[in-house]
Amino acid sequence: FKGETEVTESNGDRDKMSRAIGKLLPRVLMVPPKYFKVEYNINPWMGGVVDQPKAQRQWDDLRKAIEKAGVPVQTLEPVDGLPDMVFVCNSGIVHNNKVFQSKFRHKERQGEEQHYIKWFKENGFDIQGADSKLCFEGGGDACFSTPDTLWAGFGPRTDKAVYEQIAKLGKFDTVLCELALPNFYHLDTCFCPVDETTALWYPPAFSEKTRKEMSARLPHLIAISDAEANAFVCNAITIRSTVISPIGIAKETVNKLSDRGFNVVECDMSEFMKAGGACQCLVLKL
Ligand code: ARG
Repeated sequence: FKGETEVTESNGDRDKMSRAIGKLLPRVLMVPPKYFKVEYNINPWMGGVVDQPKAQRQWDDLRKAIEKAGVPVQTLEPVDGLPDMVFVCNSGIVHNNKVFQSKFRHKERQGEEQHYIKWFKENGFDIQGADSKLCFEGGGDACFSTPDTLWAGFGPRTDKAVYEQIAKLGKFDTVLCELALPNFYHLDTCFCPVDETTALWYPPAFSEKTRKEMSARLPHLIAISDAEANAFVCNAITIRSTVISPIGIAKETVNKLSDRGFNVVECDMSEFMKAGGACQCLVLKL
């Protein structure tokens, strides 16, 4: 991995401080890319031919980076004919032992829903949202930065009104985030909270109202460039003081994260970007 640094004394100290997102990540779920390919077109990025062995290597490297940062990875068996099932982050949003299940916008992905529900049942989750008629694409659009703040993306994939039901999962604030550009169709393509006050974001992807709201709530926002946004840099995962990002993060952004106590590990996600996804899309936070 490029850009990897040893955990220094000061990073160690930072670790002892409240790292909200790290604490929210006791374990994660991933789906191996055995049947991953680009078979249909439901977002502007989809196209090209996936090199399957390469995709497997990239997925293995991401898994190792997550484990090395200290989070155990559980896996769910992939299903032939559901090529986007690798993007398991879209299966739902987990809050404690509860999960609000997804309802995909596009029929191409709706076949995944039953497999996720089965896994949630077998693993003891209290499943909510079974009767919802509204579209919701799970951790692709909804993410907790702390146990009391849910960032709630809506527009291309998720219906705004679903968050009234999701609010019943627990006691937290819901910050509605309106997505404004077709290429940034899920919140996790343009926004990545790294701690209570810091996030990577790509401002053009949001409505003006949302830009204002984010700026007001997050004093340490780090805006990324067009080139970084197109390299999926916001599709990163934070584990304690490590930010695992796709390749393409600018030196300037790495420095800003380092000033905030984070080190960056880059993973090559080229094969998954052919389907419009990267690091964060491949992982469901449990
Ligand atoms: N091809 C998938 C789709 O369009 C990619 C999903 C990426 N997931 C995400 N969380 N951004 O649904």
